[in-house]
Amino acid sequence: MGKSFAVIGDPINHSLSPIIHSAAFRELNLDSSYIGYRIPKGELESGVEGLKKINITGFNVTIPHKIEMMKYLDKMDESCSIIGAVNTVVNDEGILKGYNTDMEGFLEPLKKRNFSIQDKKILLIGAGGAARAIIAGMSKEKAKEVDIANRTTKNAEELSEFATRIGLSTNVKKIEEIKNLQNYDAIINSTSVGLKNESSPISFEQTNENTVIYDIVYSPMNTDFIKKAKEKKLDVIYGYEMLLGQATRAFEIWHGMKAPYNAMKKALLGGF
Ligand code: ATR
Repeated sequence: MGKSFAVIGDPINHSLSPIIHSAAFRELNLDSSYIGYRIPKGELESGVEGLKKINITGFNVTIPHKIEMMKYLDKMDESCSIIGAVNTVVNDEGILKGYNTDMEGFLEPLKKRNFSIQDKKILLIGAGGAARAIIAGMSKEKAKEVDIANRTTKNAEELSEFATRIGLSTNVKKIEEIKNLQNYDAIINSTSVGLKNESSPISFEQTNENTVIYDIVYSPMNTDFIKKAKEKKLDVIYGYEMLLGQATRAFEIWHGMKAPYNAMKKALLGGF
């Protein structure tokens, strides 16, 4: 019998995960299907029960369930327990095992560019679930220091405490205070600012030509943050690159074989 997969979240109709995974199934002739399944906040438990009833093979988890889903797991791998959030689940006859592929998904585009995080000074804007996976990635890769700037200072402080626990040195800054970007080797936007075409959360007046700009917002592809960075001729990393990174890893967990990266990328870029 074919395998079935889903991505759960709310909203879900914007998700490009069904397009990416379906392209991989086509490329490798796999008898599998992947759908978007809307589960509103507060209905996660019954939604997950429903997925078990139809014997789903695995599913991705997105906003707003990445942290709450931890409660419904029977097992988890280290990435998931360290980060405290889950984005990929395997269903083995009703036993749910969680993974977090966001961290490796975040690191992959940097590695592809041979950008080493080790000993680098980074500015991270945002302090939500995605930011936790990014902090874990930067700790793993031994960044020198990370400044965290977030709209709500309390959330930045909590993220900073998490960073300290996993051995990463951080400072909490106010977004409005961020004027001079010259000392950063990389600047990452992990907020949802840009999804609705909002202006960049920071200004690019004082920049350093070697700074890499990384947006995790993937829709639209060219957010204002990315556009402003390009105007300054800075290197940019697009949100779709992290999306592909996490998707290929989820694919490999579920199918036990190498993901067809190029076919997945082609389908994703066609989805914009
Ligand atoms: P995710 O799991 O995708 O990280 P999240 O946990 O809801 O989603 O986090 C969203 C991030 O975007 C947070 O850093 C949030 O800032 P707050 O901690 O102040 O809520 C940030 N964010 C969302 N909308 C924003 C806005 N309009 N301006 C600035 N920051 C915003």
